[in-house]
Amino acid sequence: MSAPQADPDATPATIHRQDYRPPAYWVHSVDLHFALHPTETVVRARLGLRRNGGPAPLELDGEALTLLDASIDGVAVEPARLQHLPGGGLRIDDLPAECVLETRVRISPEANTELSGLYLSGGNYFTQCEAEGFRRITYFPDRPDVMSRYTVTIEADRASCPVLLSNGNPAGHGELPGGRHWAKWEDPHPKPSYLFALVAGDLVAVRDRFTTQSGREVALAIYVRDGDQDACGHAMDSLKASMRWDEEEYGLEYDLDVFNIAAVSDFNMGAMENKGLNVFNTKYILARPETATDGDYEGIETVVAHEYFHNWTGNRVTCRDWFQLSLKEGLTVFRDQHFSEAMGSAAVKRLANVRRLRAAQFPEDAGPMAHPVRPDSYVEINNFYTATVYQKGSEVVRMMRALIGPEAFRRGMDLYIQRHDNQAVTIEDFVAAMQDASGTDLSRFARWYAQAGTPELHVTEDFDAASGRYTLSLAQRTPPTPGQPHKQPVPIPVAMGLLGAGGGALPLRLRGENAADAPAERVLLLEEARQDFVFEGLPERPTPSLLRGFSAPVKLSGLGQDSLGLLAAHDSDPFVAWESGQQYATAAMLRMVAQGGEPVLGEGLAAIAAAALDRADSDPAFAAEAFALPSESFVADQMPVADPEAIHAVRQSLRRQLGIRFAPRLAELHDRLADPGPYRIDGPSIGRRALRNAALSVLSMAPGGDGLRRARAQYAAGGNMTDVLAALRVLVDSDDPARLDALADFHARWRHDPLVLDKWFTLQATSSRPDTLATVQVLALHPDFDIRNPNRVRALVGAFAAGNPAQFHAASGEGYRFLAEMVIALDPVNAQVAARVVSPLTDWKRQAEPRAAIMRAELERILARPGLSKGTFEKVSKGLA
Ligand code: PHE
Ligand code: ZN
Repeated sequence: MSAPQADPDATPATIHRQDYRPPAYWVHSVDLHFALHPTETVVRARLGLRRNGGPAPLELDGEALTLLDASIDGVAVEPARLQHLPGGGLRIDDLPAECVLETRVRISPEANTELSGLYLSGGNYFTQCEAEGFRRITYFPDRPDVMSRYTVTIEADRASCPVLLSNGNPAGHGELPGGRHWAKWEDPHPKPSYLFALVAGDLVAVRDRFTTQSGREVALAIYVRDGDQDACGHAMDSLKASMRWDEEEYGLEYDLDVFNIAAVSDFNMGAMENKGLNVFNTKYILARPETATDGDYEGIETVVAHEYFHNWTGNRVTCRDWFQLSLKEGLTVFRDQHFSEAMGSAAVKRLANVRRLRAAQFPEDAGPMAHPVRPDSYVEINNFYTATVYQKGSEVVRMMRALIGPEAFRRGMDLYIQRHDNQAVTIEDFVAAMQDASGTDLSRFARWYAQAGTPELHVTEDFDAASGRYTLSLAQRTPPTPGQPHKQPVPIPVAMGLLGAGGGALPLRLRGENAADAPAERVLLLEEARQDFVFEGLPERPTPSLLRGFSAPVKLSGLGQDSLGLLAAHDSDPFVAWESGQQYATAAMLRMVAQGGEPVLGEGLAAIAAAALDRADSDPAFAAEAFALPSESFVADQMPVADPEAIHAVRQSLRRQLGIRFAPRLAELHDRLADPGPYRIDGPSIGRRALRNAALSVLSMAPGGDGLRRARAQYAAGGNMTDVLAALRVLVDSDDPARLDALADFHARWRHDPLVLDKWFTLQATSSRPDTLATVQVLALHPDFDIRNPNRVRALVGAFAAGNPAQFHAASGEGYRFLAEMVIALDPVNAQVAARVVSPLTDWKRQAEPRAAIMRAELERILARPGLSKGTFEKVSKGLA
């Protein structure tokens, strides 16, 4: 038996969507047995195989497995019959059309630093199989279109592993000699291998119950480490609220007797929707007022809902292949956002989500990794768990719902699930269900899935006062992206209204319509490259309010500062009001960056800030969003060649001037908005804290004011983490001598709580102080920095490179060198995380020389590393192209 060695430095292969072929064999049943051991776990797998079509070899994926033996229908297979494939898989020729293949392999959870497959975290066993981790557990056709019924038996030491969990329902347990015990699990629902999970170890359960709409009892449990039981309440509440919401909104009920969640502090992503056994990053489960911020609480609600909603959109109906990833992710993000909007202030949730989309997805769509929501090719699928697949995918579903209406959308969901329950399907299947249920032709709309790049929507206007006729011309263009030089127009729904000079709504009567039923808001559909919309009967020149609620994920241009100022002050749509203020400020900042010299806070900008503060009482959460200046990276994204240092200087100067100008008002807000009683995690309380801390942050910029004194007092007062961290943020950005004591105090107090310690790292990594890069370099050597823990890597390296543009892009190039060194050290440990954090280095096309040249040189240095992972190879080589 010869095992061909894959050449580690050969160029990794590209997988193409068009090359999809159905599998040669189905696996209808899987019976797994695990004998758990830190370095020598033995996995026995019995696969019930059935050929799919004519005779063909069976190909099984495998990675980092040691094969012990194999048999077919109970007869041992001679080693010569097993062909080892490059990369670690197995091939077997001449199998019968139906048979049972049994293999035994040995794996080492302890050696698994990639956190894919079966690994150890804090002495406990966890698995992560999406996308291709199951092949690191046993030989298997590890692709989502192979769906099987699983039975799992786990055997382990009783003392160190009292808890033994897998998917589905419990099906027995017992004692074994030598202090060992076993448990058996049966999952009645066929599933792809990426949804397999096993959790074993010394964990404790926080329990609850849920009665489904048809009266089924479900036992709920969240498994955490002893001592964390008191931090699971918010996650449990969020779970029950999600279960209820899916019943009420979609009629979808949970389908097992138990729903288990296990929390783990070493995890590559946020959480994972394994059937009946979700595994979560502790970041999205654990929360106490004194350890978690309001943002953390909101993240928990969203992610718990997201994973729960996957039970139907992802698990019961899954993906045929990984190019269809947005079929489950875009749809499920849409569902979790819709849910979160319903749980809190919908408008503020919406604009926060838009802010995130523009911070992460728009740059991706404009960069070297730009890809359609349904990609056409990949080298490493883990690189395609992106803002495009998730967030833009969600926007596409949202637009579809807006186009066909909520009732037709609900019928479409019903049809989709009825047609495809227990199937692995494609995005076309989803669109077809929506089309059939609505009777709307969605073939053009489907371009949104196929075309990369953010469409640019440009508006021009013409008003004829004599006839009262107003022509709104909308033009669209999508810039070229790698591999897609020519773009077609996409259907863009533009929710809109028209405002009079006083800010009131004007009637919307399109040419040829009846005056009597002119609405105040309507949705224009721009389907061509350019279209004119002619409105009649207007008493005065209107100002257009466009993309209300962010009705399409596009970039809007063409409105002047006067229009933006009017919309910011008066538009009835909170999204457009916020957005117009942001666009106004962005244009002003860009002008200051271009002009150089001392930035001046103009009256227009001051008026927008004042209007934001006027809403302090009616809607503090909105006021906080509207008072904030656009981020440095958002401003940079609007420039063909960015100037990170100049942008930083302009923004800091404007914040200082806002602090001076509004000092009394900000101080008054900081006094008045203090929490009246104990910490509460409801929308109004969150909004109040957000505005109060925004006020403190800007106030502390004013020289000679009492902002820093307030921050010191707020830090010393302790209390909830939102306020403590906001105060520490202010100090860490300042020259205040108290900042070092406060940082030391925070570290001493929280050194044993990894999630809080992550905040300590991030706070320093994202500081606006000019010595931040040196601090970050020292922190990478701190005993609490651990390159094997993804949360810690993200907290320091990720936060610095992606969240501190002015320092990362320091002219010396030291920031680039630091990131490259971290990526080189991380790649052999955890390639997935390495490939993720490298992204900011690939943005060199938007930097001026000599920065761009240094960035390229650092990318080349990474690329030259022998044995580089294919994921980092893909990001870096595409980043250099
Ligand atoms: N499928 C997970 C989610 O979106 C994300 C994930 C992907 C987690 C890959 C782990 C690994 O909820
Ligand atoms: Zn998901």
